[in-house]
Amino acid sequence: MQHFLIVGCTSGIGKALTNKLLENGQMVTGVGRQQNILQTFREKFPDRFNGIVLDLRETATIETTLNESLKNRPLLDVVVLLSSITGENPELEWSIEEDVIRTNVLGWSAVALWAARHFERQGKGHLVGITSLAKYLASVNPSYIASKAFEGKLLDGLRLRLEPKGIWVTEILPGFVETPMIARQKRKFWAISAEKAAHCILGSIEKKKRRAVISKRWKIFRLLAPHISARLQLKIFKL
Ligand SMILES: NC(=O)c1ccc[n+]([C@@H]2O[C@H](COP(=O)([O-])OP(=O)(O)OC[C@H]3O[C@@H](n4cnc5c(N)ncnc54)[C@H](OP(=O)(O)O)[C@@H]3O)[C@@H](O)[C@H]2O)c1
Repeated sequence: MQHFLIVGCTSGIGKALTNKLLENGQMVTGVGRQQNILQTFREKFPDRFNGIVLDLRETATIETTLNESLKNRPLLDVVVLLSSITGENPELEWSIEEDVIRTNVLGWSAVALWAARHFERQGKGHLVGITSLAKYLASVNPSYIASKAFEGKLLDGLRLRLEPKGIWVTEILPGFVETPMIARQKRKFWAISAEKAAHCILGSIEKKKRRAVISKRWKIFRLLAPHISARLQLKIFKL
């Protein structure tokens, strides 16, 4: 039995991944803000699920909360970092962009660095960050796209330090996945279910890939995206 820490286990891809892991007999510590979802997992899998209520925007509390909550079972095999938000922001209000940056950049980095230190102390582990193929695009949600590029670069930097110590770092780059995050997106071609995304993520973890585009058909987009003009992107994706 492996012990997974799923940060962002209460919705979408993280919830599907948590369900799959628990159904496969793994041990999961799950992080999120929605206490009712954490409670549902706890009731269904009382021996193998431990829920942590944590708001990633409160960066000062992250280290203590994670250390405290893992005190009885500190050995972690895999940390999957999913927690992120995006927001429509037609008026370019600072408070909306600030929330994205606090969650996707500051909170995300604090957890990733905590995981790196934790794995270094253990002498083993596997850090998995879910970024997005959107990082190759321009967007009307500027902070979201920028945050995904930042997360990818952060993982690159951590990989340089951790890989020689036998600690794996994987970046997962999804295309569209049917989750509440993209419920209002007008065009979602090649969208896969959250369950399929969870299946692909587990496959990439098993293979210890450095980077994985999910689903596979989006690989062609990854090659083309940097060459698609902003005007064409707006047309294709109806942004
Ligand atoms: N869906 C897509 O098409 C798509 C495409 C590319 C990449 N991705 C990436 O995939 C990951 C998962 O996205 P999703 O589509 O599954 O989104 P989702 O359904 O909206 O789930 C987001 C998760 O992040 C958690 N979260 C958000 N703010 C948080 C905070 N301040 N503190 C702690 N947890 C927080 C949420 O927990 P609470 O609600 O409990 O706070 C929830 O578990 C994200 O990194 C996203 O950027 C998604």
